[in-house]
Amino acid sequence: MPNIVLVGAQWGDEGKGKIIDILASRADYVIRYQGGNNAGHTVVIGEDEFVLHLVPSGILHKKKICVIGNGVVIDPKALLEEIAILKTKGVDTGSRLLISDKAHIIFPYHKRLDELRELKNKNRLGTTKRGIGPCYADKVARTGIRAVDLINADVLKEKLKSVLDEKNAILTKIYGDPGYAFDALFGEYLDYGAKMKPYIADVARILHEAIRKKKRLLFEGAQGTLLDVDHGTYPFVTSSSATAGGACIGAGVGPTKIDKVVGVVKAYTTRVGEGPFPTEFPEDLMARIRKKGREFGATTGRPRRCGWFDACLVNHSVMVNGIDEIVVTKLDVLDELKSIKVCASYKYEGRTYKNFPSDIEVLENCEPVYKELPGWGEDTTRITSYGKLPKKAKDYLKRLEKLLNTKIVLISVGSERKQTFKVE
Ligand code: IMP
Repeated sequence: MPNIVLVGAQWGDEGKGKIIDILASRADYVIRYQGGNNAGHTVVIGEDEFVLHLVPSGILHKKKICVIGNGVVIDPKALLEEIAILKTKGVDTGSRLLISDKAHIIFPYHKRLDELRELKNKNRLGTTKRGIGPCYADKVARTGIRAVDLINADVLKEKLKSVLDEKNAILTKIYGDPGYAFDALFGEYLDYGAKMKPYIADVARILHEAIRKKKRLLFEGAQGTLLDVDHGTYPFVTSSSATAGGACIGAGVGPTKIDKVVGVVKAYTTRVGEGPFPTEFPEDLMARIRKKGREFGATTGRPRRCGWFDACLVNHSVMVNGIDEIVVTKLDVLDELKSIKVCASYKYEGRTYKNFPSDIEVLENCEPVYKELPGWGEDTTRITSYGKLPKKAKDYLKRLEKLLNTKIVLISVGSERKQTFKVE
């Protein structure tokens, strides 16, 4: 297997966790390169369901080395809890988990600011309130605290003191919040540092060495392309580079070392949080698909908004990620529909948009132009090979392939590993 980046090609929640889990069997290293515990990757193995937020899904395979890259923001409390849960389920992270010394650390003031901004601002983004945006903001402002700082008491003390003064001023003066006491926070994070120390490493160097030895690397994207801070539906995005390019920056690996980009899409579209969604279903269909597809956030439990497949949006993803191959998940959720719509372009004020617009006003008010296809009306959840799919389901997939001008290689019709087959 070459070195692969796997990305979500919609608004996240495409079922990447399951696909990573499948591809991980052929990889040596599985690497998270952006986001934080705002992500939730669900993997079902037999009776067990694992929801991973920070640790790469590859951890469920014995012997795979799992890496949290410098592009990830880490809430140490959440990470240590996740490691402990994995341990109770018999998954040992021991020497198989590595954390970049350069990864930035989420503090309680990041979470509190995230919550307060969502609560008090008129223009809510619908964030996960995990402190993601404020932590990345500090990183770019050059006031962030990194994993390596947690294991150096002097550096931590100095950085935390100056940053906390500023955060407390904002919290108390702008939001009327009590703020945080230095001593308790310093002690708590020093303790996290001691617990994380065995995992902290110069990850870019380790990956460089792995590439030299021809090891196989799998980069696990979190969130999705339309949540990317540059290429998504800004400002209704997350604060990291969820696109394939983020893998290079967020892991310290050069673009010449990436061989392939795989995009994961749902057979329809979902999004959590605020922001434009041109192909969003009407209420009745929304309720039906949400129930059938169990469309509730793996991290926050919020109901996901659902809609028709949007080829205009996915074409944008194919372009900005350089997607070579596509995986379609949750095809089974459409089993009972009599007819299925696919959006190929938008109309706004008499103009047709074939390319995904950057202007939020256009996205919010445009009319999707649909092509309608007949549904297949059969249960696909027990199908184990492409040949056995109903003809109309194949026609649907072929239509997507044509609209996206990209090969669909894998189909998923359920949450279990065995409910996946290649397109032949
Ligand atoms: P944040 O990443 O918590 O700042 O949230 C920003 C936006 O990204 C919100 O609309 C969230 O609902 C969305 N978001 C963040 N992480 C995920 C995810 O893993 N899946 C889907 N949406 C997400």
